[in-house]
Amino acid sequence: NLKITIIGAGSTYTPELIEGVIERSANLPVTEIALMDIDQRKLDIVGGLCKRMIENAGLKTEVKLTMDLNEALERADFVLSQIRVGKLACRILDEKIPLKYGFIGQETTGIGGFFKALRTIPALLNITKQMEMICPDAWLINFSNPSGILAQALQNYTKIKTIGLCNVPINMIAGVEKALGETNLDIEYVGLNHLSYITGVKKEGKDLLSDALLQGVNGQGMKNIPLQGFSSELIQTIGAIPSSYLEYFYYRDDKLKHLMEEEKCRGEVCMDIEERLLTLYKDENLSVKPKELENRGGARYSEAAISLVDAIYNDKQEVHVVNTLNQGALEFMAEDDSVEISAVIGKNGVTPIPIRGFKNKHIMELMQTVKAYERHTVEAAIHGDEAEAMQALLIHPLVGDYNKARACFNEMKEAHKIYLPQF
Ligand code: G6P
Ligand code: MN
Ligand code: MN
Repeated sequence: NLKITIIGAGSTYTPELIEGVIERSANLPVTEIALMDIDQRKLDIVGGLCKRMIENAGLKTEVKLTMDLNEALERADFVLSQIRVGKLACRILDEKIPLKYGFIGQETTGIGGFFKALRTIPALLNITKQMEMICPDAWLINFSNPSGILAQALQNYTKIKTIGLCNVPINMIAGVEKALGETNLDIEYVGLNHLSYITGVKKEGKDLLSDALLQGVNGQGMKNIPLQGFSSELIQTIGAIPSSYLEYFYYRDDKLKHLMEEEKCRGEVCMDIEERLLTLYKDENLSVKPKELENRGGARYSEAAISLVDAIYNDKQEVHVVNTLNQGALEFMAEDDSVEISAVIGKNGVTPIPIRGFKNKHIMELMQTVKAYERHTVEAAIHGDEAEAMQALLIHPLVGDYNKARACFNEMKEAHKIYLPQF
């Protein structure tokens, strides 16, 4: 028996996961899927479509809808978490309030992502506490954001086996392959979630990094970040291919200007998309994932998630880029830093692949700085400690100024009050 539990299953992304389960059903015999959410309306609509998809594909998998966390966790082998505490309404606050203080307002990067972490860490730790009692051997695969900070919290504060996941790595790798017209490249990927780089590209021992630097850099745009692209001068300076989230760091002023000029923030756009999707999902005649879902930024995330389940369940010993404890893989990061790197995945878990002789100082220094921010954020989220919160914001390259950070923090804390039990 193989049971997958999806927490936050009312998300309009869920059909994406169901499609992944259907595509892999030959090797991944999922007997039961529990769809859990606290929003009954969305759970019913999205769950209805998921049931039709499974039936339409001719699978016998039992799909159960529930609003009860403990019931959802019973007998679970894999728990996929995609919760969004406070929903898109809170995301909109995360994106808009910072702009008033001259800060980037983004879902995962900067002070917006910081507040998303403060809201989500207590909720996730509550889920793992229940898992410790109900399904202690199950894997938790988390793609709630900010995925890297949540991995830092989960991997240091729970006994549950957890993997932090994001769709950026597979999209970046695919982007480089496409730009070079190659497949099966040997890629060196280094970073933190949404702060990552491709630092090596080889094909049968032949070094293709400089070709990739020239061509591959803008090949990995995501729907959610209007790409402006990195200049070749910047790329040469860094000597690596940055993820598009690095645009917020390297082109902060341009990005900020763009965000201020936008008629609707990304969260508002997503709210519209979500309602349109729910209307489509309600149609009893629909029994496949609709094309419109591609307007969201989550391209290929089901592939990332379900291929990971497949690798563990079938002990594939495959390489995946995941967020996992460093454990010495990167010499310049601490053992208990969660990092986004390649790891071998099998039934015994995640074995990070060491990178020796890493020389890119710029990347090391930025990773160390942002990791320090993430560690303070985790402490602030767990202990409700405002001094930790301020230290987090003072060290973040996109925040820094005390008076502005304090004022913005106060306003956001008030706005998100009901979701911040720790403060
Ligand atoms: C990318 C990121 C995800 C993020 C998504 C946002 O895929 O890797 O972490 O959730 O974009 O997309 P959205 O459509 O919600 O703006
Ligand atoms: Mn991501
Ligand atoms: Mn502590």
